[in-house]
Parts: sequence; structure tokens; C-alpha cells
Amino acid sequence: MSESNLHVSRHPLVKHKLALLRDKNTDYRSFRGLMRELAMLLCYEFTEDLKLTPRQVETPMGIADGVKADERIGIVPVLRAGLGMLEGILELLPSVQVWHIGLYRDEHTLRPVQYYNRLPHRAELDVAIILDPMLATGGSAVATIDILKNAGIARVKYVGLIAAPEGVAHLHESHPDVPIYIANLDDRLNEVGFIVPGLGDAGDRQFGT
Ligand code: PRP
Repeated sequence: MSESNLHVSRHPLVKHKLALLRDKNTDYRSFRGLMRELAMLLCYEFTEDLKLTPRQVETPMGIADGVKADERIGIVPVLRAGLGMLEGILELLPSVQVWHIGLYRDEHTLRPVQYYNRLPHRAELDVAIILDPMLATGGSAVATIDILKNAGIARVKYVGLIAAPEGVAHLHESHPDVPIYIANLDDRLNEVGFIVPGLGDAGDRQFGT
């Protein structure tokens, strides 16, 4: 497996909050808060190569050389579970576009089923950032990237919280150009396609269903 495009956070706060998120005693109100905070911490990491243009600003003391981040960014939360990561990202990146894609995983075939797609008619972005907390078989992530590339988006990043090695391998094989940013690489998938040790079902746990 090529892991050159896999970025697993080493930040102590990410590890601390991820352990709280996994805890089965964490209620859904706390779960939502932790997802929001983890997304903000990962935002610091996935924006590491944001392109900058120089600009000068006038301070009360004189002229300072500064920069402006002016890439056209689209955030793509995969419904439902990706919604929990969106709010934190929008606090840090308030000027981005948001493109919603709805997928659920068929529990028997484990294949993704698309039920919603709200891409603009003119897809003009420098980079699209997919948000989905769980990379299990990788089917949903690959399907989402297929949709974005078919819409003409050349640069895509995947941002999640936890991943199984099987999902990372699937995504790398299908889209080797797409970097993966996660809080942790977990051990494996179990026989029904859940990430172990995982955190359960991120959609159910954040929405209390
Ligand atoms: C979960 C998760 C991913 C997908 C991951 O969604 O949020 O979208 O499964 O699995 P995969 O890598 O095997 O495709 P789910 O189907 O539970 O829908 P939900 O977000 O609406 O709960």
C-alpha cells in the first residue's frame, strides 16, 4: 500500500478528543461538539499547502508584508455523518462553497447508494475537500471522488476521522492523487464492514438515531 498520500494526525489534542469520541458513554451532544472540534484541528493540517499571494497591509506602525489565501475551496460533506464536521470548518474557512452529496451504504452489499447531489451548474474550484468521518471499505469515498472528478474538479482531498487499512488501500488504488487526512488509522474492518476499534456509527451517534 502506498502511504505517501496518507496524513495521520500526530497532534496530542486530536488524539485526546478522538478517545473521547470513541467512548461509548459519550452522549450525542458531546459527540457533536467533539466532531466539530476535531474537524477544526484537522483543518489546520489539511490546509498546510494552501496557496498564498503576497499582499501588504498597513499597521498602526507602518507597512507589513503579508499574504492572502485566495484559493477557491469547496467543502463537500457526505450526508449524513460528514455534516458534523462542516460547522467547525466553516468557522475557519467562512468564504468557501459547500456542495452536499448524500450517500448511504447498503448494509448487505456494503456498496454506496447516492440519494442526493447538490453540485452547482458551473463547477469552478481550485480544490474540493470531502468531509466524512469514516473510511471503512472506501466505497463511499471513491464514489464521491468519482462524482467530483466527473464534474471537472481536478484537485480533491479526503478528510476523515478514522479509517480502516482496507479503505485507505481502496481509495489509493482508485484515486492515487487524492491525499487522505485522518485523526487515526484503525486496525481493521469486521465481518459486517464496521471499523474496529472504531467508534460505532458516526451518523447515529451524532444525531441520536
Ligand atoms: C458511513 C460513513 C461513510 C460510509 C463509510 O455512512 O459516514 O459515508 O458509511 O463506509 P464505506 O467506506 O464502506 O463506504 P452511512 O452509510 O452509515 O450513512 P450515514 O452517514 O447517513 O449514517
